[in-house]
Amino acid sequence: MNYKLITEADVEGKTVLVRSSLNVPVLDGHVLDDFRIRQATETIKYLQEKKAKKIIIIAHIGRSGKETLQPVAHELKKHLLELRFVQNYSELLESKYPLILYENLRRDPREIENDTEFAKKLASIADIFVQDAFSVCHREHASIVSLPKFLPSYAGFLLDKEVKNISKATNPENPSLFILGGSKFKTKEKLLKNELQIYDDVLVAGALANDFFKSKGISIGDSLSSGKIPPAILQHFKLSLPEQVIVRLSNGEAEKREVTKNLCQKGESIVDALVPRQILSKIKKGRYKTIVWNGPLGFYEGGFYQGTVELAEALSVAKEKGSFILIGGGDTVSALRKKNLKDCASFLSTAGGAMLEFLLYKTLPGIEALS
Ligand code: 3PG
Repeated sequence: MNYKLITEADVEGKTVLVRSSLNVPVLDGHVLDDFRIRQATETIKYLQEKKAKKIIIIAHIGRSGKETLQPVAHELKKHLLELRFVQNYSELLESKYPLILYENLRRDPREIENDTEFAKKLASIADIFVQDAFSVCHREHASIVSLPKFLPSYAGFLLDKEVKNISKATNPENPSLFILGGSKFKTKEKLLKNELQIYDDVLVAGALANDFFKSKGISIGDSLSSGKIPPAILQHFKLSLPEQVIVRLSNGEAEKREVTKNLCQKGESIVDALVPRQILSKIKKGRYKTIVWNGPLGFYEGGFYQGTVELAEALSVAKEKGSFILIGGGDTVSALRKKNLKDCASFLSTAGGAMLEFLLYKTLPGIEALS
């Protein structure tokens, strides 16, 4: 990649602005998953070790522009004791604290409008910029694509790790397997076409599989679905779909079913997908050299984890046998962390959409902006 790594910067005595990825789930003021927060600390600690005079962390949370990073500050403080949270720009200018987290950038609409003046204003408070928010690098926002125009800019450690590991999956060592879950076929169509070309096997699962089932004339009852699948994808020889799923019945109970034409009745819905036995067995035998998984297999928030657990256990075996396993997507990673299964990955990405775009385009606007 065409960027300079943070280790090439002379940061001693300088004010460094770091764009981190801290968009984490929060409920009632409490962070539900601190994965991104933990991953953000390496770059900050390095800057402290190298005696940066002042470090200002900028980040966003949520989409409404109303959310606050306050709960994130509380969590981040557990790793960086001296951190102070600053909520407005004038306070930021006056503050002498050596380590600051600034309030949600999206509170100012100019962040997502990619406003040049907003980017300049942010740049004016620092000597150096470090981009570490890989998970937002697919967005053409001010702190992603414009800010680097106004300061000497470098990549942080997390961004660099993401780029190196996801790059391995853009040119997979074969035999290879791509597992795509989640939902919204339209947003994944291009990627799916691409991966059907470069991967040996492609498994579509999660709510995404419902669209495939429906397009094949399988009744999916009240399951989520979002559109029709073009025949060229539906009939592709590399494509696999779950052969067994968990169905929630109208009385609230759940049962495992083989996927047949009359899979679900009205009032019933698919809540989990199991990876076909034949694929699980190939995974466990270490037959795949590269495995990529993005998107949950089931409705894990509702407690439907069977597909995820079976797959993660098989991946752990494959990892021992030397398979390279890349897993991404906020929900997928969250599900694995909840079940303490995150070690099944060779690399766990902090990104969702950015990972999928990187797989397709091999770069992202925020990475290009650093070169
Ligand atoms: C993410 O959470 O995937 C990134 O932070 C991007 O957030 P966004 O989808 O709200 O732009």
